[in-house]
Amino acid sequence: MSKSRISMKSIDNISAEIENFKVSVAEDLERFRLQFLSKKSELQTLLGEIKNVPAEERKDFGQRVNQLKRRAQAFFEEQRERLESVAPTSNSQTDVTRPASMVELGSRHPISLMMDNVCSIFEKIGFSTVSGPDIEDDWHIFTALNFPEEHPARDMQDTFFIDQKPDVALRTHTSTLQVRTMERHQPPIRVICPGRVFRNEAITSRAHCIFHQMEGLYIDKNVSFADMKQTLMYFAKEMFGEQTRIRLRPSYFPFTEPSAEMDVSCNLCGGKGCALCKHTGWVEILGCGMVDPNVLENCGIDSSVYSGFAFGLGIERMTMLKYRTNDIRLYFENDLRFVKQFTPVSH
Ligand code: PHE
Repeated sequence: MSKSRISMKSIDNISAEIENFKVSVAEDLERFRLQFLSKKSELQTLLGEIKNVPAEERKDFGQRVNQLKRRAQAFFEEQRERLESVAPTSNSQTDVTRPASMVELGSRHPISLMMDNVCSIFEKIGFSTVSGPDIEDDWHIFTALNFPEEHPARDMQDTFFIDQKPDVALRTHTSTLQVRTMERHQPPIRVICPGRVFRNEAITSRAHCIFHQMEGLYIDKNVSFADMKQTLMYFAKEMFGEQTRIRLRPSYFPFTEPSAEMDVSCNLCGGKGCALCKHTGWVEILGCGMVDPNVLENCGIDSSVYSGFAFGLGIERMTMLKYRTNDIRLYFENDLRFVKQFTPVSH
């Protein structure tokens, strides 16, 4: 039997194999491809043999092998289209009647809810929101804010300094943004500045080394302490309810004069005294005061024409009070069971 006879037989065999090949899942199709269309397939070997076939048989042989190859390719395409048109689940083990798994919706973090809440209260009376960098220089954290160099007031806030660059630190308060705003804009200025702040403090249920503050700044002609008190009273009532009372206690900050701390009547006991307010009926929520003329001048604002007030409040403190939680660490642990419970607060 000549070599071409064997090959002719192979053509018939392969042709029969192709016609009888059963394709029911994608894996079968891949098997088909390997067996008939890949470089190492018998069909490919036959194609390579064309040149060895005696001249008088070559034409016929070549035509038949090429025909077979086209048939194999056509079969492959037909089967692939058929598989793709069948619903993908119908021949797999998926139960199409099974209920779909739920997509869990996320919720907003209580701190960011509270920040938005405070911003929108002040936006209603014409304040706009600005932000600035967490990593600051000495000028914006201390010097411009009237903390003289080597002055003990710099120790009021335990600062994280950067070893290699003594001039650079993580901001300890958002008052840096008072400076940045006044450096860029002339009055009238009415801004609130939410942001993250850092202090080198031991972490306890009431203190954390990272927390959030919201700074407020109002500079214009003839701004008085009474304007500040009225603005802060408006805020306290919007935040904690119409029945809320405020009180201002004298305090000290290098950048304000006079300075005060503001308490609100405890919204848990209504002022009667409880563990939250340490039985005083009052809870401290912010520091405030009239911007010191030195600070205005440091930032390029004429203190003989303009005056203004500033305040800084702790967002965690506010959130703990509003939602009556007793441990600041909960806001940083991101335990979903805790953070999922918060919905936007109404005011
Ligand atoms: N920066 C002060 C602090 O962090 C708060 C404050 C802001 C006080 C503005 C007065 C005016 O304690």
